[in-house]
Amino acid sequence: MYIKKIKLENFRNYDNLDIEFSKDFNLIYGNNAQGKTNILEAIYISALGKSFQTNKDNELIKIGKEKAKVEIDYVRKDREGTINIEISDKKIFYINGIKQKRLSDIIGKINIVLFYPDNINIIKDGPAERRKFLDIMISQLKPNYLHILNRYLKTLEQRNSYLKQIKFENKREDMLEIWDEKLADLSSQIYKYREEYIEKIKEKIEEIHNQITNCGKEEEKIKISFISSGKTQSEFLEKLKETRKIDIKRGFTSTGIHRDDFEIYINNKNVGIYGSQGQQRTAILSLKLTELNIIYDEIEEEPILLLDDFMSELDENRRTNLTKIIKKNQVFITCTDKMNLDDKKNITYHIENAKLSKD
Ligand SMILES: Nc1ncnc2c1ncn2[C@@H]1O[C@H](COP(=O)(O)OP(=O)(O)OP(=O)(O)O)[C@@H](O)[C@H]1O
Ligand SMILES: [Mg+2]
Repeated sequence: MYIKKIKLENFRNYDNLDIEFSKDFNLIYGNNAQGKTNILEAIYISALGKSFQTNKDNELIKIGKEKAKVEIDYVRKDREGTINIEISDKKIFYINGIKQKRLSDIIGKINIVLFYPDNINIIKDGPAERRKFLDIMISQLKPNYLHILNRYLKTLEQRNSYLKQIKFENKREDMLEIWDEKLADLSSQIYKYREEYIEKIKEKIEEIHNQITNCGKEEEKIKISFISSGKTQSEFLEKLKETRKIDIKRGFTSTGIHRDDFEIYINNKNVGIYGSQGQQRTAILSLKLTELNIIYDEIEEEPILLLDDFMSELDENRRTNLTKIIKKNQVFITCTDKMNLDDKKNITYHIENAKLSKD
């Protein structure tokens, strides 16, 4: 699939942009603060409904303006379409001119994989970043997942507030059962999705890692392990009962799928803790390429790749390996210095103060 055209109006530092892209590589180069990342952000929002840079929609509107617009024309193997987003005090999505009711209705119209330097946080930061990685990948493929996850988070919030009421207002403890039942049910559903996708990652990541590192399996072996507090509804329920007293004391729920995590090992050592910088970067690259591969398998089409300032992170060897792997995708690459990517029908754009010009 590919994006044919992007129009922006009062989006970030853009007044008006109306531009066509190549279905192969699009290289956008220019100095800092010219608007490279902002274009990728507009594409990202069209695919996933929200930004990777902010949760505050008003930051997306050009300072001093009231409304921003994003329009994307895309082509898939079996259909074409247009996504329109209007951002003011609320965000409204249209697909082919029809207003969409739920955020989950727009997700998956185009599929993207974003590579950017902050991806390293998946390895370096706490479990929340890793859950986010999983959640974004799964929601792109299974819109219902996001729906269940949101219901879980809402129920969790209600349980937490009831825990505080037990502590401070002497509310009845046995009433917790209502929340526990609901949480345990949703947990087991979320577990199934996460487990399925962790298995898919496990199946693919070893081979991809070898392709990237160019070395035999003996030298660098990558492994993933999933950590969850339970599997079945009754297991989750049991855990909630076990931690009830502590939860009431603390005023929050200490067990559940909101604590899930996965660990990445290289040669049996946790790469987040013991990995060298190079190993961590390679592990991330392998993980992102695995995501790409999983999406491709499910939708039977190549997703669109966004590489924000990512190439400069890689050495020559890894860069070449990466470009070989992503040959069939539409790719948007941003960088500060013009680079040569052989072997591709690429278009190069120079960007200056939110104006793009073809080289
Ligand atoms: N709401 C907004 N209104 C006006 N300008 C904005 C808004 N949000 C961001 N900007 C500006 O847009 C400019 C371009 O940002 P962007 O992140 O796209 O730069 P970039 O080309 O990716 O730079 P870098 O190479 O440093 O990553 C910045 O100067 C930023 O301050
Ligand atoms: Mg940038």
